[in-house]
Amino acid sequence: MGYKVAVVGATGNVGREILSILDERGFPADEVVALASRRSVGVEVSYGDKTLKCKDLATYDFSDTDICLMSAGGSVSKEWSPKIGAQGCVVIDNSSQWRTDPDVPLIVPEVNADAIVGFTKKNIIANPNCSTAQLVVALKPLHDAATITRVVVSTYQSVSGAGKDAMDELFSQTRAVFVSDPVEAKKFPKRIAFNLIPQIDVFMEDGFTKEEWKMNVETKKILDPKIKLTATCVRVPVFISHAESVNVEFEKELSAEDARKILRNAPGVLLVDTREPGGYMTPHEAAGEDATYISRLRDDPTVDNGIAFWCVSDNLRKGAALNAVQIAEVLMNRKLITSRSKAA
Ligand SMILES: NC(=O)c1ccc[n+]([C@@H]2O[C@H](COP(=O)([O-])OP(=O)(O)OC[C@H]3O[C@@H](n4cnc5c(N)ncnc54)[C@H](OP(=O)(O)O)[C@@H]3O)[C@@H](O)[C@H]2O)c1
Repeated sequence: MGYKVAVVGATGNVGREILSILDERGFPADEVVALASRRSVGVEVSYGDKTLKCKDLATYDFSDTDICLMSAGGSVSKEWSPKIGAQGCVVIDNSSQWRTDPDVPLIVPEVNADAIVGFTKKNIIANPNCSTAQLVVALKPLHDAATITRVVVSTYQSVSGAGKDAMDELFSQTRAVFVSDPVEAKKFPKRIAFNLIPQIDVFMEDGFTKEEWKMNVETKKILDPKIKLTATCVRVPVFISHAESVNVEFEKELSAEDARKILRNAPGVLLVDTREPGGYMTPHEAAGEDATYISRLRDDPTVDNGIAFWCVSDNLRKGAALNAVQIAEVLMNRKLITSRSKAA
């Protein structure tokens, strides 16, 4: 007998991806329940070759559910995750609500799977921000080899990172530009079609945006609090996958050639870097894939021990849904949860 799994936010970008990844990876679920808001009761979503009808989160009883994969935003998670956890169901949450809570592990399985043990304090495990997840997968093996001191990262983040309404906005604005209709911006602060927006999430007092702050504090929590990181996060008119331009400085000597050897064998990483036209990965090609792709790897001659690279990954998969399912697999493989129906 397998697990009973609930997917909250099943009609959303991340929720739909979670359902397909659970099926693709053959996660041992006896039953998968799709949950969303009251608005979506009865809406059909796909789980492999099955169709599930969405139920209302607010009236669902979690007392015999083992794992809840939650992707319905911070305020929904703030209200519901503690209640679900208190019913003995482990919540794996995609929002930013719990990521900095010291009683909630923030996990990227390739990087810090061992930190998962603290989850029983609240029965909540946090999934990092999409741009942090792919970054730490690339940084971890390099940090192990030469100790990272400083990271400078500029992101090129797709609109799917802001939810399904944001994807619709890029589509409708692009169409409006072509047919000379007025361009309406609702989800983003400025027009995103044929444009770039150097603001993701709200501004903080120091001039950084909250997205940039998240990359900093989450990298510290997952990888090493001693790493200094500065980020500039930019929204780009791409539907799926985030790209990052990354400069890394090390305590010890590490050349781009050393990094190439290390990254070739690193879990979750694929190196695509042939130094010829097209010999690198782009967001379009990474969409639908699981890997964190590294390209344009080179020495940074402006610092003592530094390299630069280009990093691309599907934000809905490694940045959210895949990472969440991998966390559920860690719980299962390390026997940190048992199926409640099996135990009965
Ligand atoms: N997209 C990414 O790359 C990414 C990466 C990492 C983390 N995240 C996080 O994952 C979460 C979901 O993102 P998304 O991109 O999937 O958003 P989305 O496409 O806008 O979907 C939001 C989902 O939340 C549900 N929801 C909203 N209010 C609800 C309520 N009161 N009760 C129950 N369900 C409710 C929606 O259901 P209805 O259809 O019924 O409204 C929908 O299924 C967010 O916290 C986001 O920050 C996203």
